Amino acid sequence: MKIGIIGAGYVGLTTGICLASLGHKVNIYDIDNQKLTKIMDKKLPFFEKGLEEMLEVVVSSGDLIPKNDLDSLVEHTDGCFICVGTPTKNNSIDLTQITNSVESLTNSIKNNSKRDYKIIIRSTIVPNTSKNIVLPILEKSLSNLGFGLAVVPEFLREGNALDDFMNPDKIVIGSLDDETKIFVKEIFSHFNNKCEFIETNLESSELIKYTNNAFFSMLISFSNEIANLSETISGADPNKILRALVSDKRITTKVDNRKIIPGLDSYLIPGCGFGGSCFPKDVQALLDYANSSNINTPLLKAVLDINAERPSKMVMLAESIIGSLKNKKISILGLTFKPDTDDLRSSPALDAIRLLTKKDVKISVYDPVIKSKDSVKELSEQCQICFSLEDALENADIALVFTKWEEFSSLNSDFLKKFMKNPVIIDGRGFLDSKKFDEGCLHRIGYF
Ligand SMILES: NC(=O)c1ccc[n+]([C@@H]2O[C@H](COP(=O)([O-])OP(=O)(O)OC[C@H]3O[C@@H](n4cnc5c(N)ncnc54)[C@H](O)[C@@H]3O)[C@@H](O)[C@H]2O)c1
Repeated sequence: MKIGIIGAGYVGLTTGICLASLGHKVNIYDIDNQKLTKIMDKKLPFFEKGLEEMLEVVVSSGDLIPKNDLDSLVEHTDGCFICVGTPTKNNSIDLTQITNSVESLTNSIKNNSKRDYKIIIRSTIVPNTSKNIVLPILEKSLSNLGFGLAVVPEFLREGNALDDFMNPDKIVIGSLDDETKIFVKEIFSHFNNKCEFIETNLESSELIKYTNNAFFSMLISFSNEIANLSETISGADPNKILRALVSDKRITTKVDNRKIIPGLDSYLIPGCGFGGSCFPKDVQALLDYANSSNINTPLLKAVLDINAERPSKMVMLAESIIGSLKNKKISILGLTFKPDTDDLRSSPALDAIRLLTKKDVKISVYDPVIKSKDSVKELSEQCQICFSLEDALENADIALVFTKWEEFSSLNSDFLKKFMKNPVIIDGRGFLDSKKFDEGCLHRIGYF
C-alpha cells in the first residue's frame, strides 16, 4: 500500500521503517530537513537497536522515501500517519504540532485534489482532540473531496521499538468511518491472527493510550510509595514485599505448572522514578484534561507527586550515607531515562543533577550513549562528561546509578575500590547484584 508519514521522530520513523519492511511503499516527511538528510544517508537520527540496519535496507530498496515536499508525499500516497510530538506546555498538552501538520496536510490534499485521503493520527492526543480539533480542520477544507479519519495509537517502548512494533499485543483502531478502518486493517494485515485488533471509535482510542501509560506509571509510583513506607520500618525489604505481591496467582499465572511472570513485574521495583517522553507528559496531560472537564483524579495527581520526589530521594540518600555533599565528587552513572535509548526527555538523572548543582559539588557523568555535552545543554559547568565508567568513578565520593544499562550490571566492590575515593554506590534502578558488593558499599532506594 502507499502510505505517508508526517513526523520522522521515534514513532514516525519506526512506523515508517517497519511498514516499509512489511512491503508497503512509504513516504516520510518532517519539517526538520536535517532528519530527512540523515534518513537519506541511511543514518538513524536517534539511537535504537536494530533499526538502522533496517533503515539501510528500506531506503536502499526505495520502499522508504524521505520527502521534504508534502505535496509530493500526498501525490504518492492514499493515506498518512501523523506522528508529530504532543509535548507539555504550562502543564497542558501542546497541540501546535498536530494542528500545524493537519493544516499543512489538508493544503497538500487540496493541492492534489486527492479524494477520500485517509488521515491517521498516531500521536498521543487527549480525548476529543480528533473530534473537536482535527475534524473541524478537515471538514472546513476537505468536505468537497471527502476524507477519512482514524486514531491508531502507538504502544512501542523506546529501547524495544523494533520488537514492540513487529510483535504487537494489540492494534487499536479508532475510526470515524468504515473505509478508514478497513484501510488501516489492511496496512496492518501482516499481524492478522498474531495480535488482537481492537476496533473502536476515535474517543476510546485516544483514551486507551492514556490508560496504558497511566497504569504503568501508577505501578511505578505505587512501588515507590511502598518503598517510602518500608524505610520507616526497620528491616523491611521493599523488594521482597513487591516480589511477594507479584507471586500472587492473580498476577503470576501458571501454565503446565510453570510460572508466567508478567511484564508488569519490571514496573514494580522501587527506584529513582519514571521519565522519558511519554509517562510524565501523558499522565500530566490526562490530569489536565480531567481538571478541565471538572473531573477529580486524585490518583493521577498522586502518581506524579510521588514521582516528582524520586530524584531528590536519591540525593537525600547520598547525604544520609556520606554526610554533607559540599565539595564532594559525585559520579552519575546513566543519563538516559532508560537503557538502549539516547532519549533524555524528563530523565530523573537530569533532575538529580539540577539539585546537586545547587550543593557545590563536582559531578562526573558517564552514559554509554551520551558522548558530549552538546546533547545535554542543561548540564552546568560543574558537570564533566566522561567517556568511561573508570573516568567517571575516578576519585569519586559516591556513585549514583540512574539507568539500568547492561554495562553497569557487572559493577562490584573490587571495581569501585580501584577508582573511587570512597567505594559507595546507590542503585536507583534496583538491579545491581548485592552479592558482588561488600557490606555498606551498595545502597538501594527503600532501605534507609
Ligand atoms: N517516543 C515514544 O516512545 C512514544 C511511544 C508511543 C507514542 N508516542 C507519541 O508519539 C508522538 C511522537 O512522539 P516522538 O517521540 O516520535 O516525538 P519526536 O519529537 O521524536 O518526533 C516528532 C517529529 O515531528 C516533527 N514535526 C513537528 N511538527 C511537524 C510538522 N508540522 N510537520 C512535519 N513534522 C513535524 C518533528 O520535527 C519531529 O521530528 C507523541 O505524541 C508521543 O507522545 C511516543
